[in-house]
Formats: sequence, C-alpha cells, structure tokens
Amino acid sequence: MSAATRSLAFSVAIALSVIYACDTEAVVTLENRLKSKVFLSPKITLHPGSVSNKFYYDVEFPKGHIAIKSFNAEVVDEAGDPVSLQETYLHHWVAVRYYYRKGVKNIKYNANLGFQQSNFILAGNDGICDNGLPQFFGLGSETRKTSTDVPDPYGIEVGNPLKVPDGYEERWMFNIHAIDTRGAVDAMGCTECRCDLYNVTVDAYGRPLKPDYVGGLYCCYDGTQCKVKNGVESVERNVYLKYTVKWVDWSDSIVPVKVYIFDVTDTWQHTGIHDCLIEYDVEKSTTGVATNDFTSTRRSSGILPIDGDVVYGVAHQHSGGIGSALYGKDGRVICSSKPIYGQGKSAGDEAGYIVGMSTCYPKPGSVRIVKGEALTLESNYSSEKSHTGVMGLFYILVADSSSNFNAPVQIHEESKVPTVWGVAVLGLAVCAAVLVGYQRRKQNEDGYLSIAT
Ligand SMILES: *[C@@H]1O[C@H](CO)[C@@H](O)[C@H](O)[C@H]1NC(C)=O
Ligand SMILES: *[C@@H]1O[C@H](CO)[C@@H](O)[C@H](O)[C@H]1NC(C)=O
Repeated sequence: MSAATRSLAFSVAIALSVIYACDTEAVVTLENRLKSKVFLSPKITLHPGSVSNKFYYDVEFPKGHIAIKSFNAEVVDEAGDPVSLQETYLHHWVAVRYYYRKGVKNIKYNANLGFQQSNFILAGNDGICDNGLPQFFGLGSETRKTSTDVPDPYGIEVGNPLKVPDGYEERWMFNIHAIDTRGAVDAMGCTECRCDLYNVTVDAYGRPLKPDYVGGLYCCYDGTQCKVKNGVESVERNVYLKYTVKWVDWSDSIVPVKVYIFDVTDTWQHTGIHDCLIEYDVEKSTTGVATNDFTSTRRSSGILPIDGDVVYGVAHQHSGGIGSALYGKDGRVICSSKPIYGQGKSAGDEAGYIVGMSTCYPKPGSVRIVKGEALTLESNYSSEKSHTGVMGLFYILVADSSSNFNAPVQIHEESKVPTVWGVAVLGLAVCAAVLVGYQRRKQNEDGYLSIAT
C-alpha cells in the first residue's frame, strides 16, 4: 500500500465515521405511522474478478411485531455512493428469517444439516419449493428499479412473539452474492458464472463438476476468480449492501399476506415434489434466424394451499430474460412481469443489465387464486445467444381468504400504482455502530449454498 493509498484509506475511514456517526435511531415516524430505516450489510471485500458469496447471520432488522411495507437495496461503496453493476454485479441477495436458540454462543450454520437443527429453525416464506428459496425478500441486478411496496391495507407480518418457539428469538440472515467484473475479459460471462472463465473443475465442496456443467453457481462460489485482462491491477474495494426497510407496527387493521415463490425449474408436475433447481441454461437457437424467433420458453406448474387474492407480483430473470408470467388454470394472466434493461453507464441504468422488473398491483379482490388450482409459470429468454445459470422465479403476495378472517378490503382508486404510505422518506443515515458491530462479528464461510438451504 503506498503512502497515498494509506492516507486515502485513512481519510475514507474518517469520512465514514463522520458520515455514519449519526443517531442509531434513524427512524422517521410519519403521520401515517410508516417507519423507515436504512441499514448497511457487513463489508464485502472484492478485487477485480473476485466473487463473494457469503452468509451473514443476525443482520440488522427492524425489531418488534411489525408489518413490512417495502424492502429495497443497492450496492454502495465506502463513500456510500451507488456502485454500477458493470463493476460489481449483484448476482443476488436474499433475506431469510430464522429462529435462534437464546443463550447459545457461536453456533454456525451447518450446510449439511441445513437449518433444521435444534439451535436454528428456518422460518421461511409460505412456499412453494420443498427445498430452497425460503426467503421473504430477495432480488438481483434488478434491485434498484423494482418496486417492492406492499399496498395498503396489506403487510408482511414478522416478529410476532406468539409465533417464535419458546426459548428462541427471531433473527434474519442475508446471503449476498456479488461478482467484481472490473477488468474482466468477459464481464457478461462472469455474471453468468461460465465455468471456463472461472477455471474451476470442482465445486465449493471439492466435488468434481459434471463435464456437461458449463455454467452456474457451482462455478462462481465464494472465493472463485473470473478471468481478467492481462495487466489489470488488483485494486481491492469494499462494498456494502445498503438496504432500506419500511414498516408499520402491527395492528388489526393490517391484512397479512403470504409470500410464495414459484420457480420455473420446479419439477413438481413430473415428480410430485417441489424440487426447485433454481438455475437453468438457455441454448442458442439453431432455427431462430430462419423463423425469426429467438424465444426460449420454459414452464412449470404448481398449486397454492389456500384461496386468496393476489396483491403483488414480480418475476426474477437474468440478462437475456424477455418476460415472465403466471397464469391461472383457465389461462388468465395472474401477473406478467417484464425486465427493464439499462441504457447507459450510471448505477441504475447499466446497458445490457436488467436494472428493474415491472410489477403487478391488481385492484384488491380482482385477481383471485383458488386453492388447488394448477398455476403455470412461464419464463421467456432470448435464445439469440446461449446463457448459463439463468433463473425464472415468480414472487407473489397473497391475502388468504380461505379462513375469511377480517374480510378485506376497502377498494382504492383504480390506479395500478400502489397506494403507498405516501410521504417521502426523510434523509436517513446509517450508523457507525452498525458497521463496527458487523466487522467484529465473525463471518461464516459456507461457500456454495446459494439461495438454497
Ligand atoms: C487454472 O487452474 C489450474 C489448476 O488449478 C492452474 O494450474 C492454472 O494456473 C489456472 N489457470 C489460470 C489462468 O488461472
Ligand atoms: C413467451 O413467449 C411465447 C412464444 O413467443 C409467447 O406466446 C408468450 O406470450 C410469452 N410469454 C410472456 C410472459 O412474455
């Protein structure tokens, strides 16, 4: 480290302590009771071509019995400035709830045992995968321009003390997968985890990769290195996932919604179990030129165990994605969600990357799912080029009407825009306490677990 770099690092440290030396209770209470707080994840250290895919336990999260109204995030650098996807590709981040046995020290999540151990109990979403995808919140490169607002009068209920088993407390963990593509020979290839660019032959556990496995999470696990151009200087950089949670305290006027995630790789219709494979590959079309059609369509089906009203929907796709939809048994569109591609270079508008997904906010009561109804998820990708490790997820929030408890819902205006809690969030800041606390905490090195558990 040169003197100049050292002094720069020092000034950054000072700047950070100034910027973040704010009140820990950076909570703004608005008239309508909406609260909002900005947090920083633990520090993620990257260098050109490097991959960080780590699990962070007991992350900062609003406390108490609350209803989450939105959960947004982005990658920022030490100065708090947004980092472009062209430099740090955010492959995914997911937030998972778990119950942790009180008083037990230093328990580590064990990848082989999974979450169902006596000291950890996974408290995942409502389905529908049997394994994997237990998160309440989670997105990837599209994070910046994807609305996550839960419209009134709904909310995602968390922190209900009656639901936490005796002797446990509710906590949250993050899995954050970031790929530094500065100086990469093939940045898009790095983001698609193409094995040839990572020069790996074994997975994170040392198991040999199958010869036909050409790309995906098994090739870009924590600590792997994507190929960079000759002479690229290995400049280290620290980034953080900055996340903003909005919530209201729980009350009887809030209608709870269930969180369901569909996966287009789910094998349920063939195997009877929801084996969600999470990733798949798209082959380059051999007939596309002749037919002028470069659409690769994949479908899966699933059912919900409840009757309910869909109040929000969004798909997750990777670069190359051209749209996704969830259909009812009769073919009606429950929600259709399309990627928004960036056009330029700035953070939030990176050319070639999906910077947002369109979302659905059906008029309350207008999109109903019947218990046991076979739903079809469709995920379209462009097959003009081949793609590895792509995803086709669909995330919906459903107000359960099976039990018919406090029947919703006053109908709002016709608008498709959510009736959010209206008021702009005031200048919020993040605190030194958060940073320091995290840095001291031991970080787990589980390697490849991806978003599966
Ligand atoms: C690729 O991996 C092999 C075996 O681990 C190693 O010998 C070789 O130097 C690596 N090549 C590059 C370009 O990193
Ligand atoms: C997917 O592609 C097929 C074939 O072109 C098309 O019929 C369908 O409407 C597309 N679905 C979505 C959700 O874009």
